Amino acid sequence: MSTRRLVLTRSAALMGAASAGLLLPEIVRAQSGKLKVGFMLPYTGTFSQLGMAIENGFRLAINEQGGKLGGREIEYFKVDDESDPSKGIENASKLVQRDKVDVLVGTVHSGVQMGIQKVARDSGVLSLIPNAGVHAATRGLCAPNVFRTSFSNSQPTRALGKVMMDKGHKKTVWITWKYAAGDEAFEGFKESYTAAGGTIIKELGLPFPNVEFQALLTEIAALKPDAVACFFAGGGAAKFIRDYAAAGLKGKIPLYGSGFLTEGVLEAAGPAADGIITTMHYSDSLDTPRNKQFRLEYVKAYRSQPDVYAVQGYDTGLLLIQGANAVKGDLNAKPALYKAMEGATIDSPRGKWTMSKAHNPVQDIYLRVVENKENKVIGIAAKALADSGVGCKMA
Ligand code: PHB
Repeated sequence: MSTRRLVLTRSAALMGAASAGLLLPEIVRAQSGKLKVGFMLPYTGTFSQLGMAIENGFRLAINEQGGKLGGREIEYFKVDDESDPSKGIENASKLVQRDKVDVLVGTVHSGVQMGIQKVARDSGVLSLIPNAGVHAATRGLCAPNVFRTSFSNSQPTRALGKVMMDKGHKKTVWITWKYAAGDEAFEGFKESYTAAGGTIIKELGLPFPNVEFQALLTEIAALKPDAVACFFAGGGAAKFIRDYAAAGLKGKIPLYGSGFLTEGVLEAAGPAADGIITTMHYSDSLDTPRNKQFRLEYVKAYRSQPDVYAVQGYDTGLLLIQGANAVKGDLNAKPALYKAMEGATIDSPRGKWTMSKAHNPVQDIYLRVVENKENKVIGIAAKALADSGVGCKMA
């Protein structure tokens, strides 16, 4: 028999076996093996606590469901992305190409997210964004396999401008880290504040993750605005709050921000944080059975208080559970998986939310004030707020 004939005969036999179901155990084994989840998060640097809170929240959601996804055991992989955008693609590729994860959960920093977005779009791997708000991810570069469970960078600040004008602050200084998260937070603030009639007298910035605020605080004192609005987060936010008070500005020029400013930093910031008003899609003090139950379980599991990052990690777990259950753990069943995730309502500690067409949360934004190391809700600044999703072909 010629070689060619032999090959044909073999493949014909294989096809026969497959159609008779003889190869099925092989396929079933492939799908019922462990489902690989890759965390790409900052575990060092100014955002290290944020990364840990996200992972904790995610694991809590999964553990509450018996530690499995769609009936499959889970194997976790981890990469510390150091909030370093220059290593974004390389780090995401480690999880996707080397570890062959089924789903990539990450990250915090908008610049690093752009690396993940490229790898996600090129490889088609399911990519869940538990924090980074970079607009492009759910606007011009949106993709069927990318879902964000947090916010877009301009969402929280879009609710801030009117609040400040209602309080009579007509002239404001804006200050932030100069990178996508700060610039896009400014976009939301500027639109809402100027639409309400306010004037931004100066935009101040410093490179991420620089925390030498002194010269800028001196400039703010000289400018004498009615108020200051800002975007900072993590360790840098705690230092900004303390430096603002130490510079003598607290009590003289009210400080506002997107709520990241006061998330996870209230112990470190101490009384310097009292009175800061922020807008955010979560608050510790939300008086709902869902939030109380979540907070209790989180404290039991981790002996620390959850913050918005923990909630976003938790919600990422909840979303993945809904998707995985719909396809019985077969994440390769992409159309059904995406459909289930797009249609999901997430019963979150922050309140129920849904996915926009561009895969970004449609959610309420709360108005909060810091009192005694707690973010207290004092109102709803925006109801069911959606990002524009502009430029997203799916939207
Ligand atoms: C971001 O880089 O997108 C970012 C980082 C920390 C936050 C919010 C947004 O708290």
